[in-house]
Amino acid sequence: MAGRGVPFACLTAYDATTARWLERGGVHVLLVGDSAAQMVLGFDRTTDMPLDLAIALTAAVKRGAPRTLIMADMPFASYHESDEQAVRNAARFMTEGMADVVKLEADASFAPTVERMTRAGIPVCGHVGCRPQTVAVSGGYRIAGKTAEDARRVVADAVALERAGAVLLLIEAAPAEVTDAIMAATSVPLIGIGAGTACHGQVLVVQDLLGMTDSPPRFAEAVAQLGLATRDAASTWVRRVSERNIGGRRYVMDEGEAERLGIQSRPTTESGGEPSAREPMSRPTTSDEARRDE
Ligand code: KIV
Repeated sequence: MAGRGVPFACLTAYDATTARWLERGGVHVLLVGDSAAQMVLGFDRTTDMPLDLAIALTAAVKRGAPRTLIMADMPFASYHESDEQAVRNAARFMTEGMADVVKLEADASFAPTVERMTRAGIPVCGHVGCRPQTVAVSGGYRIAGKTAEDARRVVADAVALERAGAVLLLIEAAPAEVTDAIMAATSVPLIGIGAGTACHGQVLVVQDLLGMTDSPPRFAEAVAQLGLATRDAASTWVRRVSERNIGGRRYVMDEGEAERLGIQSRPTTESGGEPSAREPMSRPTTSDEARRDE
């Protein structure tokens, strides 16, 4: 798509069910971001993402969206110790996690690591610009490339990572001019987040898109309000439980068995006129097959 000049859409995903719906919506790339530390685990920084869980979530997303390119974020400290550690953990993402590409937050100094991973047959995406895994050193989430000097550094990082073999680049939180400069200096597809519209692809944290985060970044515009919808559904459930009107269908004993047990059989409809489970259940969606109970 990048070669044809057609923008491609990427979203984060951390579970199979959401991934299934995102694939049905036509999203081209799913990123199992280390933002799962915040979105799934409730930490306030991405550096708290555990490696084993990241691999397990990657596999879950692949199972939910088997026809979509899955990119796995390598968590903090999972590739920094040595090239051997980077190859070993990236290989786990590809085998156990079934990832198609792994992403590293990296500057030019990581070029030898990317080279080594590429030689091992691991497709790498180099994440440049704002790198949330380094906020403890940089002092916070910073826009990358606001000055000419910083912009030159970010472009140099991208160029070095591409030369080392990166098959994709990602730029986070940078002015559009920095994106333009990277695109002029590199040839692999560039995914942007908060980096203008020129990138080949765009990514957002899915909860920001769905209106589920309380303080989304300025570049993220929600296109749905699932936070409010979830709250309303929850309060509907609370009310229905309190009214003993839980919806759905009940299971029933076989004909005459309640009497044999010495208790009175219930009517086949309960409050609200709900049908019993003896009637055929509606067909579940394919991936919910395992939950069929009749
Ligand atoms: O972890 C993540 O969600 C990311 C995106 C912000 C690109 O790395």
